[in-house]
Amino acid sequence: MFSLVYVSFAAHDLSDEELKDILKVARETNQQLGITGMLLYRDGFFIQVLEGDEDKVKALFARIAADPRHRNVLTVHTGQVESRRFPDWTMGFNKLSDSDLDQLPGFTDFLSRPDDGTLFTQNSDRVLTLLDSFRNRSYY
Ligand SMILES: Cc1cc2nc3c(=O)[nH]c(=O)nc-3n(C[C@H](O)[C@H](O)[C@H](O)COP(=O)(O)O)c2cc1C
Repeated sequence: MFSLVYVSFAAHDLSDEELKDILKVARETNQQLGITGMLLYRDGFFIQVLEGDEDKVKALFARIAADPRHRNVLTVHTGQVESRRFPDWTMGFNKLSDSDLDQLPGFTDFLSRPDDGTLFTQNSDRVLTLLDSFRNRSYY
């Protein structure tokens, strides 16, 4: 089982309707591809984990990365996992709160230069822990 985590920056602040549109398509496609995962959103940035067959995850990621609704798509982590971390979600979704982000040191600085993904790529362990904390929750 292959897992890929990335962070990206929204082309603009997305409304709930736009987020729901993304999820509707994502859930249908992921169901067909046997892909599960979690999408987190907050003030203009996304964190997403995709898990499933390696070739399928990589092919889907290439499509997602080309989506004009976000940019500066940075891979945070890739690797094999023994079993799915998010078996319940063809794509779970949660909004990140301030207290969720307290887990990421330097986040306050990040807000002043919000396109700098190094906060996430250099703290990949913490990003994975943050994602894990949403295993049992989906906002819609
Ligand atoms: C942040 C973000 C996450 C996305 N996640 C997924 C996903 O998990 N699965 C998926 O099929 N599409 C996802 N999409 C949508 C794809 O980028 C794409 O629009 C969709 O797969 C339709 O692809 P197509 O236009 O090539 O048919 C996501 C888009 C964004 C902006």
